[in-house]
Amino acid sequence: MIDRRRLLALTGSAGLGAAMALRPRLTRAEGGAVELRAAPAMARLAPADMPETAVWAFGGAVPGPEIRVAQGARVTRRFVNDLPQPSAVHWHGLRLPNAMDGVPHLTQEAVPPGGAFLYDFVAQDAGTFWFHSHARSFEQVARGLYGPLIVEEAAPPDVDRDATLMLDDWRLGDDAQIVESFGALHDAAHAGRIGNWITVNGAPEWRGAARAGDRLRLRLVNAANARVMSVGAQGLEGWVAALDGMPLARPEAFDRLTLAPAQRADLLVDVTAAAGEEALLISFEREGAFALGALSVAAGGARRPDPAPLQPNPVPPLGDLAAARRATVRMEGGAMGGMGHAMLGGERMGPRELAAAGKVWAFNGRADMPEAPLIEAALGETLRLSFVNDTAWPHAIHLHGTHFRRLGADGAPGPLRDVTLLARGETAEIAFVADNPGDWLIHCHMLEHAAGGMTTWLRVV
Ligand code: C2O
Ligand code: CU
Repeated sequence: MIDRRRLLALTGSAGLGAAMALRPRLTRAEGGAVELRAAPAMARLAPADMPETAVWAFGGAVPGPEIRVAQGARVTRRFVNDLPQPSAVHWHGLRLPNAMDGVPHLTQEAVPPGGAFLYDFVAQDAGTFWFHSHARSFEQVARGLYGPLIVEEAAPPDVDRDATLMLDDWRLGDDAQIVESFGALHDAAHAGRIGNWITVNGAPEWRGAARAGDRLRLRLVNAANARVMSVGAQGLEGWVAALDGMPLARPEAFDRLTLAPAQRADLLVDVTAAAGEEALLISFEREGAFALGALSVAAGGARRPDPAPLQPNPVPPLGDLAAARRATVRMEGGAMGGMGHAMLGGERMGPRELAAAGKVWAFNGRADMPEAPLIEAALGETLRLSFVNDTAWPHAIHLHGTHFRRLGADGAPGPLRDVTLLARGETAEIAFVADNPGDWLIHCHMLEHAAGGMTTWLRVV
């Protein structure tokens, strides 16, 4: 038994500094946390008669190993970087301490090749989340560095099956290898890196079996760099129960769902296809519609009654919107947009010079990450941010560390989200409570757009 007073005296004599220095070493002890290793690997993305694809992966697989915990549980992962580039892990959509957010140069130093970093946080919200590299993400995510993070509710809905479906859009050559045109200026100035091969959980198609009348919870995640997906179904009917990990106040009828990059949706769907038929999950793309997944259906029973809403997560309610402080982000640039001059590295540059530096977009006339935040908020303050899409392209605006509500045309707040899609020429106003202290990134989740200039940040103190 250690006498508590004696322990205090010991740490007191060594000084607080020494005691603090011990803490990270204790939590980082080997065996204390599960390892999350990023390294080159091979994956069977293409059909069996094609070669395997060289990828970069967490835990040797694309997607990386599913992390599944109960709401309120602590998540600890020792990230080990066996890549040829520095990297960091972002836990997309989680409201966690700023130092765990995984953004190089803003919340931590990038982890060098051969290095490691301990991520340690509590999963306070239940829902469908994901993790992905946040270093050169336009390359590292395109190479496969992502995985699902599922936080289970205390009282989950009654379903026969709970499946996570991570959608991705790869640009593969005829040899099934990744085309290494990462960050190409043409992609950056247009819709981003749009691929030619869509996978579900790293496979060409999701396959399975179900019985008529079964209820499935399908957790869809769009892990693509830039492709906006449109998902429908045949022989599956039901509801959207949550978006971006946050339950809807009332489940909404599921028909066709738009999933911008990084967005998620939790579907509760019943198998309405008859025995002997197939139930299909369908992707509607410009190139045509095709099945993302197919379930062969066996005889079963009756459908269940309509589902109840999922329990809301403990997100603070919005304060007085009329009194909320506001800021505007004007988005400009891109092909057919005519970006004028913008600031880069403290210098005012014309479009040619900017493009030569890989910058084809700007937020408020800045083509790089500004040294000052867009806005500095007091803890607990309600903020309103307007994003004005003065470009000829859609954009998927993501705010780190906080879910927000997009205000409708009538000013009414919509559902909680962490990514919102803006059509060309559209303005979106979002509102949220700045309840999480730290420096939080704001960027377009079309990853080539982020690298091309669409990045700013918010400070909460
Ligand atoms: Cu999903 Cu800044 O990231
Ligand atoms: Cu964009």
